[in-house]
Amino acid sequence: MRTTGTWDPTAYARYGGERTRPFLDLLARIGAEDPHLVVDLGCGSGMSTLLLAKRWPQARIIGVDSSASMLEAAREADTDGAVEWVEADLRAWDPATVGAPVDVIVTNAALQWVPGHLGLLDRWVAALAPDGWLALQVPGNFHAPSHALMGQVAQTHPRAVELEDALDLLGVAEPATYLRTLSRLGCEVDAWETTYQHVLEAGEGEHPVLTWVRSTGLRPVLDLLTEDEELEAFLTPYEAALHTAYPILDGTAVFGFRRIFAVARRLPSPPAG
Ligand SMILES: C[S@@+](CC[C@H](N)C(=O)[O-])C[C@H]1O[C@@H](n2cnc3c(N)ncnc32)[C@H](O)[C@@H]1O
Repeated sequence: MRTTGTWDPTAYARYGGERTRPFLDLLARIGAEDPHLVVDLGCGSGMSTLLLAKRWPQARIIGVDSSASMLEAAREADTDGAVEWVEADLRAWDPATVGAPVDVIVTNAALQWVPGHLGLLDRWVAALAPDGWLALQVPGNFHAPSHALMGQVAQTHPRAVELEDALDLLGVAEPATYLRTLSRLGCEVDAWETTYQHVLEAGEGEHPVLTWVRSTGLRPVLDLLTEDEELEAFLTPYEAALHTAYPILDGTAVFGFRRIFAVARRLPSPPAG
């Protein structure tokens, strides 16, 4: 299986407030009152998983992620031992292994790293208890300058072919596609999108949008360009283009960030016959 490379929990925690906001908006739409079993797929360093534990303190909470470094940070942050942390690829992780129907499955800002993830939804819906909930959030900003410029700069780089291939990993569906797919699987679905306008402080150093994407969307580039010179050949034109796309005014850049949400409730099956 293709992996998503190395993750840096410290860098990811930068802009933690901005990154948590969509998760809170997602969580607000989940109507489960007293779930017994809650699973967070692609739980990362546990920022969102621990909020699940806070909302439903009585529930058994399981966080699944394929990154050992993110899980290590999650275990450290989980000082009460509220969560069972599982190192696994979410494509291979079998919900049946938990031994009970799942009341809530959440996956936040993870599925963009999983090509073909629409094909996984049926297995997750099947694992839900009747009236169980599946809630997902993915970034929907792959056409925004922050990402489109990565693709444009990649085309002019000496390692263009490998870079384009690496960046091709990221992909999501439109809200209506999640809605239709989950409805067909027997769920009542609420799907929507929101564009957040994040105000990022600009210091003396690099452009703040570059700092943001370093820990997420730019990672395939950073994993590939390990020599200083070839990395600079990418970062210099990319950062210059970011200054034009996201001008710094009064010490801040405004970073518009579209996100896609879907919250599905599994409808009880109609009685047989
Ligand atoms: C941007 S982080 C989001 C983490 C967390 N859900 C949050 O909201 O803070 C994406 C996470 O997805 C995980 N991930 C990506 N592909 C995965 C896969 N195939 N299986 C398991 N985890 C995966 C990464 O390891 C990373 O921790």
